[in-house]
Amino acid sequence: MTTKAIKIKRPEVRRYLVPINTAASQQMFTDCLVIGSGIAGLRAAIEAASNGCEVILVCKKRLQDSNTWHAQGGIASVLANDDSIASHVKDTLKTGCGICDAEIVEQVVADGPGLVKELLDWGAEFDKTATGSISVSFEGGHSHARVAHALGDNTGRALADALIKKARQFENVTVIENFFAIDIITNDAGVCIGVIGQNSKSSTEIIWAKSVILATGGAGRLYRETTNPDVATGDGLAMAVRAGAILRDMEFMQFHPTTLYIAGASRALITETLRGEGAILLDTNHKPFMAEYHPNAELAPRDVVSRAILDTMLKTGSTHVYLDVRHFKKDYFAKRFPFINELLVSFDIDISKDLIPVRPSAHYMIGGIKTDRQARTSIANLFACGEVASTGLHGANRLGSNSLLEGLVYGRMAGTNAAAIAKKAAKTAGPPKFKYDIPKSDRSRLDTEDVLNSLRSLMWRNAGITRMAKPLAETQEIITFWERYVLDKIFDSPTGWECQNMLTASLMIAKAAETRTESRGVHFRSDHPQIDDTNFKIHLEFE
Ligand code: FUM
Repeated sequence: MTTKAIKIKRPEVRRYLVPINTAASQQMFTDCLVIGSGIAGLRAAIEAASNGCEVILVCKKRLQDSNTWHAQGGIASVLANDDSIASHVKDTLKTGCGICDAEIVEQVVADGPGLVKELLDWGAEFDKTATGSISVSFEGGHSHARVAHALGDNTGRALADALIKKARQFENVTVIENFFAIDIITNDAGVCIGVIGQNSKSSTEIIWAKSVILATGGAGRLYRETTNPDVATGDGLAMAVRAGAILRDMEFMQFHPTTLYIAGASRALITETLRGEGAILLDTNHKPFMAEYHPNAELAPRDVVSRAILDTMLKTGSTHVYLDVRHFKKDYFAKRFPFINELLVSFDIDISKDLIPVRPSAHYMIGGIKTDRQARTSIANLFACGEVASTGLHGANRLGSNSLLEGLVYGRMAGTNAAAIAKKAAKTAGPPKFKYDIPKSDRSRLDTEDVLNSLRSLMWRNAGITRMAKPLAETQEIITFWERYVLDKIFDSPTGWECQNMLTASLMIAKAAETRTESRGVHFRSDHPQIDDTNFKIHLEFE
């Protein structure tokens, strides 16, 4: 794996969050362990199982608790007659701002239509046109309508349901919910041999595996404002860095322009396909503003729309802007966007009369664990796919709905290759003996809830949609201070481990954002507003 990159020193972290002693731990064995139940993890488990492996799939909460489940817009793929692979490739490369891996883009885009049809065969309820073909919508940056959706805006739920049903058909897939994966275990040669976690009975348990697939999803919860569910705390990123894997492009956190903004209520995604179907952004004086910022107005790339909204909020001195859908037919809206419709009704917003208050929030981690074209990480026998991975598909800016597609393609890839490794692995004589001790710390203990709330606000303020050198440096100082009192501790529950993981992942984001002194894709430096191809048309890697 040798893509040219600027190297950044990896954060100094203790190798394991908890002490390990095989003599005193529950242990399980499998061929292939999959961590995560989003589209990538489920697809990987199905593939490894159909290749004849014993598979264990663990997830932090329920199978349904993933970013995939909450996806609304859909899955991007070339399905319409007037569309082409070349066009989808071109749009992906253009949006990625010069640092996509072109071969990966071609591979993912070309595999898309076949994998979408496979999902259809597995029972995914894609919405159809009157003539029976899969219905496709527009999203920003796409030059053709190619976003396939299911059950209206409940796409993620429909796709995850189909994959869960399929995975459940395999007797060689064991699903373990409420299992918090704490750390990847590596042997003296640095090879991945399993994972230590906590099961639903709050006992520590080791799962030894011939290959491990990390599909732990994103890190939106590092930010005060986010579209992501509670589980998206960047655990896989932190676990991987502790195990010594290469992570890259951590500065590229994508912000979604439109989340419902009702003070006191939790944020909810308002899908971009609404703008794809004609919704208009208005400022708080009810004036459209997007045409001032980009020729494609509402369908400009997400980073442009997010910054335009922020700028407009500043100009008008308001906490939000509006999305206007008053021209939509009420019946059509309720059928095409049932999730959003129900949500708005619950807040007494009548779409035929009222405007929808929205503002941007953290949405998708583009960077992550570096993988090669086979989903292999830099650690032997460890694979990564989905949002936690950095395959090179998205470059510096992800084209909307390309992530579910990547999850399918790379989930399948990881499953195939992890199964091949597991099949080749020599029979072991018995469970490995493993011991790791952590000295007790007598430094004071910080209140983790308080640290987490402060961290999310700090990240939103200083490492958010627009960034500057000084606040980014301050952010690292503050995180390093918290780390002194949090990373030295041994916790015994997910809240503590999540706090440790979130500090580690946030520090990498702030460090990478400080290092990239230019603006590219989703990373915007107000003190370096131009793109700098001479110095930065390249990845940043933690090594
Ligand atoms: O707006 C949306 O529905 C989001 C899609 C995506 O992030 O891919």
